[in-house]
Amino acid sequence: MSFYNKLMLAPSLLAADFTRLGEQVQEAAAAGADMFHVDIMDGRFVPNISMGPLVVQAVRRVTTLPLDVHLMIVEPERYIPAFAAAGASSISVHLEACPHLHRTLQMIRDEGCRAGVAINPHSPALLLHEVIGMLDIINVMTVNPGFGGQVFLPETMSKIAQLRAMAGDRHMPVDIEVDGGINQETVASAVQAGANVLVIGTAIFQHPQGIAAGIRDIRSTLDASLIG
Ligand code: DX5
Ligand code: ZN
Repeated sequence: MSFYNKLMLAPSLLAADFTRLGEQVQEAAAAGADMFHVDIMDGRFVPNISMGPLVVQAVRRVTTLPLDVHLMIVEPERYIPAFAAAGASSISVHLEACPHLHRTLQMIRDEGCRAGVAINPHSPALLLHEVIGMLDIINVMTVNPGFGGQVFLPETMSKIAQLRAMAGDRHMPVDIEVDGGINQETVASAVQAGANVLVIGTAIFQHPQGIAAGIRDIRSTLDASLIG
């Protein structure tokens, strides 16, 4: 368990059935989701295209849980106001897409959202050293961003401990998210490494017994590892 922040499950809507998105959000909320993760892809920063502010606005109408918006887009500053207005609670931008990261994070804060940075598997933790004091969330990508259902990269785990130490030195109560390939096999190692926000798409929304079973299986795995 992390020293700072509560362990939270953040189902990722990318794996939901979009023809029944409202129902699925409500089902996940009733089954104990703590927030929802919304993946925004532009076909440029990542090869895939997903959804935009309209979907965030629609989901905002069916749940009061926080909406955690993950911008996998170039020039994210062009769209931060639109996602904030659509009801995002937190907005994370990619380190690799922001030449003026400090300014972009300030913009997110000015829009009234919690500010986050996501880092690709190849990006070192050290690159966040100068901005960690401005961060509410660090999303340590555990796959290369762009698609759901990919295989977890265990080599990303060592960055979590480095980031926890870096935040601890500054007494910063930052949330550390893991995003990609989190399931019953990988979730305990991510939490043991120091992650406290677990973004999970496929293992929840495409669980053969349904969404509630997906959430229950993750929680029971965490309980069995004495970290739930
Ligand atoms: C990947 C996205 C993830 C994705 C995770 O680019 O950032 O949030 O939805 O999905 P799973 O859990 O299926 O790997
Ligand atoms: Zn994501």
